[in-house]
Amino acid sequence: MILIRNLSFRYEGASRYALSGINFDIPDGDFVGIIGSSGAGKSTLSYALNGVVPHHFPGDYYGEVIVNGLDTLAVQPDMISRQLGSVFQDIDAQMTAAVVEDELLFGLENFAVPHNEIEGRITSALDAAGIGNLRQRVISSLSGGQKQKVAIAAITALRPRVIVLDEPTGELDPQSSRKIFEYLRELNEQYGITIIIVEQKIMLLCEFCKRLAVMDKGTLSLEGSVAEVLQHGESLEQAGVNIPRVTTLGRRLKEKNLYKGALPCNLEQAVTMMRSLSYSAEPTAGMDHSAGAVPC
Ligand SMILES: Nc1ncnc2c1ncn2[C@@H]1O[C@H](COP(=O)(O)OP(=O)(O)O)[C@@H](O)[C@H]1O
Ligand SMILES: [Mg+2]
Repeated sequence: MILIRNLSFRYEGASRYALSGINFDIPDGDFVGIIGSSGAGKSTLSYALNGVVPHHFPGDYYGEVIVNGLDTLAVQPDMISRQLGSVFQDIDAQMTAAVVEDELLFGLENFAVPHNEIEGRITSALDAAGIGNLRQRVISSLSGGQKQKVAIAAITALRPRVIVLDEPTGELDPQSSRKIFEYLRELNEQYGITIIIVEQKIMLLCEFCKRLAVMDKGTLSLEGSVAEVLQHGESLEQAGVNIPRVTTLGRRLKEKNLYKGALPCNLEQAVTMMRSLSYSAEPTAGMDHSAGAVPC
């Protein structure tokens, strides 16, 4: 369980607060997506979760972050990292070894994992990430997506209860981005690992996350289930978040009293919504239900 209470933070020398009065609870086993425009404070929040803020980035810090009972201010970040593993935005900076196998090994040795457990942990983390075949590869020769998986495998080998990822798909194509999310879902569902992911691709967040948190100018402007958050179109636009087009279509239909159900956030749900319309909606003056142009 993670508790964030009245958290405010201003980087040393900065004129404004990067985080301002954040309150947010994240229960075990959650899968939370954090979204918001550039500079909203998403990375700073992820640093606050692992104690890098304020231990490595000093500044004015108020409030508290409690990770599985540990106050991040009271203990050093390496204590937190046993509970909460972080995959940072800059993957290359995070890699410390030359070869994939060593990247996992260093972390396990650092955590003083018993020697007879190490081989099993490396094998299972690489296999779970689907990169068992990359074990002996030189990291610098890997693609962006493969490096992401190495970084995630290195974290999962340590078996933290929470994984925080800051824009892990930023440089990946749609297919590789999806694969990362599918792998995170597996970690979440099969191993109960809490996933907290900062991500700009709202369609992926809508499909995979249980909850969404929207950041706007250092504040947590909205949070709730994906469906709940998507209802707040105007606040999302204000926070610079583009909602899926199918959701906008659902909102427009609701405004015209043509649809009363939950807002769709993917194509499948949009199809269900449209089917319910064609069975229930009375033909409206000026609307041609027979053929019509494809909405865009
Ligand atoms: N190391 C730093 N020193 C001073 N200000 C920073 C530092 N890192 C980020 N900031 C500022 O904090 C605010 C939030 O940044 P950040 O958390 O990186 O936002 P996001 O990840 O949502 O783009 C921005 O105004 C940014 O300029
Ligand atoms: Mg960021």
